[in-house]
Amino acid sequence: MEKTILITGGAGFIGSHVVRLMVNKYPDYRIVNLDALTYAGNLENLKEIENAPNYAFIKADIADEKKIREIFAEYKPDGIIHLAAESHVDRSISDPLAFVKANVIGTVNLLNAARDLWGNNLSGKRFYHISTDEVYGSLGATGFFTEDTAYDPRSPYSASKASSDHMVRAWYHTYNLPVVISNCSNNYGPNQFPEKLIPLAINNIKHKRDIPIYGKGENVRDWLYVEDHAAAIDLIFHEGQLGETYNIGGNNEWTNIDLIRKLCEVMDEALGREKGESAELITFVKDRAGHDKRYAIDSEKLMKELGWKPSLQFEEGIVKTVEWYLNNEEWLNNVISGDYTDYYSTQYDNR
Ligand code: NAD
Ligand code: DAU
Repeated sequence: MEKTILITGGAGFIGSHVVRLMVNKYPDYRIVNLDALTYAGNLENLKEIENAPNYAFIKADIADEKKIREIFAEYKPDGIIHLAAESHVDRSISDPLAFVKANVIGTVNLLNAARDLWGNNLSGKRFYHISTDEVYGSLGATGFFTEDTAYDPRSPYSASKASSDHMVRAWYHTYNLPVVISNCSNNYGPNQFPEKLIPLAINNIKHKRDIPIYGKGENVRDWLYVEDHAAAIDLIFHEGQLGETYNIGGNNEWTNIDLIRKLCEVMDEALGREKGESAELITFVKDRAGHDKRYAIDSEKLMKELGWKPSLQFEEGIVKTVEWYLNNEEWLNNVISGDYTDYYSTQYDNR
């Protein structure tokens, strides 16, 4: 094998798309997927490539310092693509410490392990940290986040991601670790855990259950199809400048209420329901604490310097997403059994 790439969080939503892309596109790379298989990690996401000769899976927690050092010593990765994280804002509000452990301590463990393994032998080595636009805080009605926007995280999740970004930059400046960072907007598409808005709404519409919209549904998010994020990650991993940050976005802003109305139309069509039937399920519930008003990403640097652009229009992506969830009933049923029911009632029953 030409090189070994360690991908953390590869059993999760975005990570599984990145692992699939890398395993298929680079047969000469050994792709090692390291994942703790939390509630969000699901090896069913990787069925198509699980027996590929250039793929290996390791179950491990990135917060476990000793285990991480052992794995680095055994596999000797040349590159790291770090996606493992606790990723849901609502869960960070009820259990912030879990986010500090996974996102901050976990990231520092990986940085230390890479530094110890690579020493001064840094040729061809790269530590790529995947982050979020939420580190920049909340926008008003106008303007965009650029790579120079000052950090202003406002939830325990975004504060933990901001903290990990700072750690990665500190390892670059202090220890010359070859790092690159990207900050992306909201992803949607197949394999997303149904705690996040779009798959949660798809599942509720399917079962004719209320669709909970926080506050008045006026908060704005910029949505990017997950495979376009995975393609950007591939590009930045190979061609991004060391020490640099790249913003990734879909230039595709929606208020939550408009997004859900659009999704309801697509679901009515896909399920053969009368026009307007699914929208009757929309229910306004208590707002999220500290709910960021608007995110919007300026991806010009990535587009101009590395030639990336999103491949899918939202209208097409949302239809593909709905089709995927409706055609993968077993996947959905498996992830909404067990703990999901407890999570759902704790999160929504008293809203
Ligand atoms: P996800 O919750 O679907 O998956 C996270 C994965 O990380 C899971 O497989 C989980 O088992 C694993 N994991 C969690 N804690 C771990 C630990 N301590 N050790 C090892 N593995 C652990 O998340 P996602 O939506 O795929 O997000 C992936 C990354 O991308 C995260 O770093 C997130 O901050 C970032 N991101 C997500 C979005 C988005 O819209 N989903 C947007 C921008 C950035
Ligand atoms: O911007 C990137 C971020 O996008 C990622 O870093 C996070 O990992 C990812 O979870 C996502 O964060 P959001 O908080 O924006 O995503 P979520 O799907 O939880 O919510 C999207 C919007 O919908 C947000 O304004 C809150 C609202 N919402 C969410 C849920 C789950 C509702 O109105 N009702 C809901 O039930």
